[in-house]
Formats: sequence, structure tokens, C-alpha cells
Amino acid sequence: MQTMSVESTLRAVTTLRLTEMKQRGEKIAMLTSYDYSMAKIVDQAGIDVILVGDSAANVMAGFETTLPITLDMMIYHAKSVVRAVERALVVVDLPFGTYQGNSKLALDSAVRIMKETEADAVKLEGGEEVIESVQRILSAGIPVMGHLGLMPQSIHKFGTYNVRAKSEAEADKLIRDAHLLEDAGCFALVLEKIPAQLGQRVSEELHIPTIGIGAGGATDGQVLVAHDMLGITQAFSPRFLRRYADLGTVISEAVGHYVDDVKSRDFPNEKEQY
Ligand code: KIV
Repeated sequence: MQTMSVESTLRAVTTLRLTEMKQRGEKIAMLTSYDYSMAKIVDQAGIDVILVGDSAANVMAGFETTLPITLDMMIYHAKSVVRAVERALVVVDLPFGTYQGNSKLALDSAVRIMKETEADAVKLEGGEEVIESVQRILSAGIPVMGHLGLMPQSIHKFGTYNVRAKSEAEADKLIRDAHLLEDAGCFALVLEKIPAQLGQRVSEELHIPTIGIGAGGATDGQVLVAHDMLGITQAFSPRFLRRYADLGTVISEAVGHYVDDVKSRDFPNEKEQY
């Protein structure tokens, strides 16, 4: 009988490797992916962490907020991504309503993600309010990434997508929550849209890596939504977003060219037929 070593079942980037990267000062690069083709390109380009984010609700499904996406939808996206990825750590967002206020439900949701998708870890939003859920998921041996600052699943509580934790009280709570999540055993923490100074302070105080999105340059890593940084989604342009390509225009021009060629009977030509 052939046995598989533990190492051979793990992807090259592990949660332990991320901690080591923080310790030696190597920045962590993380991007979202929601489908097989994009995940394959992103993985082969050398990304460390792929997040199957619930931003799929906006980017893939066209919902205005992240709230409507379901666990089944997230599992579908995550399975497609995992099939493509050989190197990066794959983290999957627990969607709204699958972990808050009920740690048994949280564990069931996380177990479904791990069993059905074979991803490496889950991510959830919140601090003290969800700590029981975090602990219960961790107790089953499932790695958890935290998420503080702007938490899009709480948009109806915040009322805006503006920068969070500008007041001393909110910054103090964020720092307390960051320590709570680290003490509970989270392996990393996303910090979204907070002042750079606060991002630096949290990153210096924690031993686990922080991954920022709009949290300044001192966090241990950075994350962006791939469709935003590639210019596929064009309406969204917050200050923190650097666009590395204008694929929206590239795709639009290519499609326009194809339409012209079909209409003018230029496509297909003799070499493009049997
Ligand atoms: O869902 C998502 O894409 C995220 C990132 C913005 C961190 O949570």
C-alpha cells in the first residue's frame, strides 16, 4: 500500500511558513480568487495566500453587499480554486450568518468548508463578539484568520465603507480584539481600511502576521481583490487600490474587435475552419 507523507498533502505555503515570514521580515502577498482559471494564474505567479473572499458576492454575483452570499456559493467558489492551486495557502471566508452568535453553527460551517473544499483555513470578521466561535473552530484543528477594521459584513451597522478606528475608543477596541484573536490561536489577521499608524502598532504588538488592505505599509503583508487591481472592476477606486493592469479595457476592446470581425465576415477565415 502506498502511503502519503503529511508534507506531500500540504501546499508549499503553510500557516507556519507565514509566521516564519513575519519573523524574518519577508512581506506576505495575498490576493482573492474565486474560480479555477484565475486561481491557476495567480498561484503560478507566486502569490503566498489566495483568499476565496466573500467579495465574490460583489465581484462574481453582482450583489451590492457581501451579505447575500451563501455557504453553498462559497463552497462552490472554493472548490474551483482549490482544484487549481499547488503552492499558495487557500483561505475561505465564512459568509454572513454562518458563524455569528452560535459557535456550534460556526464549527459546522467551518467543517463543511474544510471537508467539501479541501481548503487550508477559514477567515471570519470580528473580535470579542465572535471569540467563542473562533475558539470552537480552532478546537477542531481548523486554522482561523481574523479580520478587523472595516468589516463589510457589518455594513448595516457601520452605515459606510469609510476608514474605521479613527477615534481613540474604536482604535483601543481594535487593539484589544487583535490580542484576543491572537491569544485564541488565530494564525493571521486581516486589517481593513484603518489608519496606517494603527496598522503599524497592531503589527508590532502581535506575533502573528497582519495582512493589510488600506492599513498602510507596516503590516506584515498586503491583500487586494484581484479583479480590482487588474482593472476588471472599474467603478471601485478607493485610495488604497493600486491598479496593476487595465484588463477591463483590454477585454472590452478585444470583444469589440471580435464583434466587428464576425459582422464583417472576417472571422473565421480559411485557416480557422476544417
Ligand atoms: O472578501 C474579501 O475579499 C476580503 C478582503 C477584502 C480582505 O475579505
